[in-house]
Amino acid sequence: MEPTRDRAWETLTRYTKSESLLRHALAVEASTRFYAQKLGEDEELWSVAALLHDFDYEMHPTLDKHPQDGAPILREEGYPEEVIETILSHAEHLNLPRDTLLKKTLFACDELSGFVHACGLVRPTGLDGLEPRSVKKKLKQPSFAAGVHRDEVYAGADELGIELDEHIRNVIAALQPIARELGLRTAADAA
Ligand SMILES: [Fe+2]
Ligand SMILES: [Fe+2]
Repeated sequence: MEPTRDRAWETLTRYTKSESLLRHALAVEASTRFYAQKLGEDEELWSVAALLHDFDYEMHPTLDKHPQDGAPILREEGYPEEVIETILSHAEHLNLPRDTLLKKTLFACDELSGFVHACGLVRPTGLDGLEPRSVKKKLKQPSFAAGVHRDEVYAGADELGIELDEHIRNVIAALQPIARELGLRTAADAA
């Protein structure tokens, strides 16, 4: 099977109906793909892994099932082992090595994309004009987007070997082109 983005979207939307989960998948995809492009890697394959990383979350919302019980389904659908291994490695509780650039990138983009998205949702101009400084300040407020694991945000940038400021800037830039799909306002709305 050719692991295309279209095919991954079809699989994702068959198992996931929640708008917020679909938006999460799109945000993580945009960030992961941004890095694929920057690093000269396979954008299509990186998109597939990112889109599908939480594909089973709606049916397996607990860590005793997600993402490990989703893996056999993806295997049956014919996704390559590289995609499946990458998806498994985003879960801290499985303690799998993140020994490829794709694994490091997916892990680094997962929590931070959600967090930057949340920052954009509370601003009248969305992501436009959002600076890493204010994202970092919000990271230190435990009550803001409380579901985002701060330790994973810091560990992700660390494992990827990138300064947090630069990583935040990249994720903001990656999400800006899909602001509408993410339900975000833009500077044009505030004008
Ligand atoms: Fe997950
Ligand atoms: Fe996720």
